[in-house]
Amino acid sequence: MIELAPSLLAANVLNLEKDLDEMMKNGVDTLHYDVMDAHFVPNLSFGPALCKDIKKRFPACKMDVHLMMDNPDKYLSVFAEAGAYTITLHQEVLPDPRASMESIKKLGVRCGMSVKPGTKAETLLPYLDILDYILIMTVEPGFGGQKFMADQVGKISMLRAAGFKGDISVDGGVNLENAPMLVQAGANVLVMGTAYFKADDPAMIAKTVKELA
Ligand code: DX5
Ligand code: ZN
Repeated sequence: MIELAPSLLAANVLNLEKDLDEMMKNGVDTLHYDVMDAHFVPNLSFGPALCKDIKKRFPACKMDVHLMMDNPDKYLSVFAEAGAYTITLHQEVLPDPRASMESIKKLGVRCGMSVKPGTKAETLLPYLDILDYILIMTVEPGFGGQKFMADQVGKISMLRAAGFKGDISVDGGVNLENAPMLVQAGANVLVMGTAYFKADDPAMIAKTVKELA
């Protein structure tokens, strides 16, 4: 089954309660939650407080927390307490990736690792046994609404060929046009910011993604 994970970054926070209510009614129960620190990426976004409030208001919503920050190890328990379902860290900033993943698991949260476009997916291979989730960036992290980088798709098929059975998600410029190619390569979670929250008909987007085989 292909899962859609709308990215909060593209939502209008002033309409959040209504838009998330609609999202859940559209049968979408995963929300991609981007955390940016203005160091690892040149932008700022959301902290743990909003995550906690969303989880409180929508307990069935699975918070897909993507930490685009330096020193993420310091914030694992904070995001676990804020209700994260998955916490994804960038391979590029981790001094001991396996220890970080073990820490996330000990908090009772699914662990994920992500790579930027310039980082080889091979760097993930030593950790496939422990990872619940891999997030392939198909734009330079930091901003929504960027152009999809098709040259990243080979990373997905490589990881499947290496035997990875967990979730593989794709983040950055994902839309209904490139979705079939991503699913064919082996992705099963599609993060969509602009393509979902800025769509005229988000319900149609949700339905179309669900029908992708
Ligand atoms: C980018 C973020 C993405 C972003 C995707 O750094 O990690 O999650 O919200 O937005 P779109 O789908 O608009 O490219
Ligand atoms: Zn993201």
